Amino acid sequence: MNAFSKKLPASLLSFSLFFVGCGGGGSGDPAIGATGGSEQVAAAANTITSPAAVNTGANVVTTPVSSQVDIDLRAALNNAGVVAAAAPAVQDPNKVALGRALMFDKILSGNKDVSCATCHAPGLGTGDALSVSIGTGGVGAGQNRLLGAGRNFIARNAPPLYNLNNVDSLFWDGRVHSNNGTLETPADNLLPPGLESALAAQAMFPVTNRDEMRGQSGDVAVDSRINEIAAISDADLQSQWTALMDRLRAVPGYVALFQSAYPGVATNNLGFEHAANAIAAFEIDQFGTLNSPFDRYIGGDDTALSDQQKQGALLFYGRARCAACHRGALLSDFQFHNIATPQIGPGVGANAPLDLGRFEETGQNADRFRFRTPPLRNVSLTGPWMHSGPYTSLEAVVGHYRNPATSLQNYNANQLRGDLQSLVFTQQQLNADILTNLDPVLRTPIPLNNQDVADIVAFLNALTDPTAVQRATDVPANVPSGLPVND
Ligand code: HEC
Ligand code: HEC
Repeated sequence: MNAFSKKLPASLLSFSLFFVGCGGGGSGDPAIGATGGSEQVAAAANTITSPAAVNTGANVVTTPVSSQVDIDLRAALNNAGVVAAAAPAVQDPNKVALGRALMFDKILSGNKDVSCATCHAPGLGTGDALSVSIGTGGVGAGQNRLLGAGRNFIARNAPPLYNLNNVDSLFWDGRVHSNNGTLETPADNLLPPGLESALAAQAMFPVTNRDEMRGQSGDVAVDSRINEIAAISDADLQSQWTALMDRLRAVPGYVALFQSAYPGVATNNLGFEHAANAIAAFEIDQFGTLNSPFDRYIGGDDTALSDQQKQGALLFYGRARCAACHRGALLSDFQFHNIATPQIGPGVGANAPLDLGRFEETGQNADRFRFRTPPLRNVSLTGPWMHSGPYTSLEAVVGHYRNPATSLQNYNANQLRGDLQSLVFTQQQLNADILTNLDPVLRTPIPLNNQDVADIVAFLNALTDPTAVQRATDVPANVPSGLPVND
């Protein structure tokens, strides 16, 4: 059976814990902030010129006089519920240290040949620079990574790991979800208690996926030992997690790291949930990026964006309709939409070679071809874009929105790497099926000339935090298992 289909069942989303900084008003719910923003618009416009307002909130404007474009843009941002993202809680450094080791250690894969960072490389925008990922058995890194003999591409593009600390809906189809703290995951009641967030719960799953990390039964690991984790049945998640903990407990470096991170827990009582919580602590600590030009602009610095970026932002939050879905601090509503993305890859579950996205979770026809709106922070670093990676430039992504229907129908697979071109589905029947369910916001073309597209791309570039680039080189020289890190 296709291991991917194992990870399916349920969820919906929400996004919580916004830091409200707009003159003390606002709402924790981006949808409310988005639709009920008219009073806030007035309030924000006032803070720009009123010296008395300067000390009332975190998002105060520091320049004395703003130009009309800034007044318009701040009103548009307010209307779209754009507030400063919450700074993540400070993480326990011992858990971060453990999580960092685990993230880069191939010991978590059945064949000891793939780590989380193989597909979420800090130097590749926490992705792998591939349209769809290549898991265990693959050879090489990043764009040069090739499929191993007899292996399949992963069904989807590896999404970035930036700013996921408060995100309650994970994966392109939202199948890991926190519902006010109650976790809903593909493991259902097999999920151990004690996972601290949706992000921690997510880390339980890549290790169970045969194509990503676990391997096929009968595989021999790179150290010539039998892959004992692949030998376990798909349904027996608990034994898979236990077998991984047995591996980690056999490495003295991990015993020490776990003891520092969880001093109250006897080594024999550690479960993979402890590893997962530590991985999440590392992801939160390492990939929280809140210092982009856009953040500084939200924080009140009118000079943080160039004129072109401001024009792009006005389009994004206005006529180009982007903020209908990309709203809030992370530029996502965390809802599911069909934007007519070309289908590329081996497909998911019973509907392979198609990927019906959210439908695989809910079984609702309305959810066919819907995918979670991706957050857009550091988006300039995270290509190729979309769940299936059809576009290799942001110009092409934005160009798609001019007319998603014709963009889908005219999609040219030549922009993909050779070995992916045969995995593109362009049948007219399929395209008609996708377009039946196209999001209503996108049913009428959006007139964007080349200058508009360039302006929007300039704005998207303003979402990049320079520290996200700097952290690219922050990779450990070695990991406790002694397995190679950089290959
Ligand atoms: C073989 C490549 C591969 C490996 C290895 C891998 N991932 Fe991923 N990761 C992906 C892909 C592809 C997705 C999207 C899958 C989907 O949505 O169905 C994903 C999704 C995620 C997400 C969800 C992000 C979001 O915004 O929804 C997180 C977090 C994540 N991975 C972390 C990890 C961690 C932690 C590990 C190691 C335990 C790991 N990944 C190992 C490819 C990989
Ligand atoms: C109807 C909702 C909706 C609208 C309107 C919308 N988007 Fe999107 N956007 C999405 C969804 C959903 C995806 C992911 C689709 C997929 O993977 O199939 C996406 C993907 C993207 C991506 C790729 C991000 C990544 O990490 O892969 C970018 C960039 C983007 N949108 C920018 C824009 C811009 C710019 C506009 C306005 C011109 C816009 N979007 C309008 C919902 C929307």
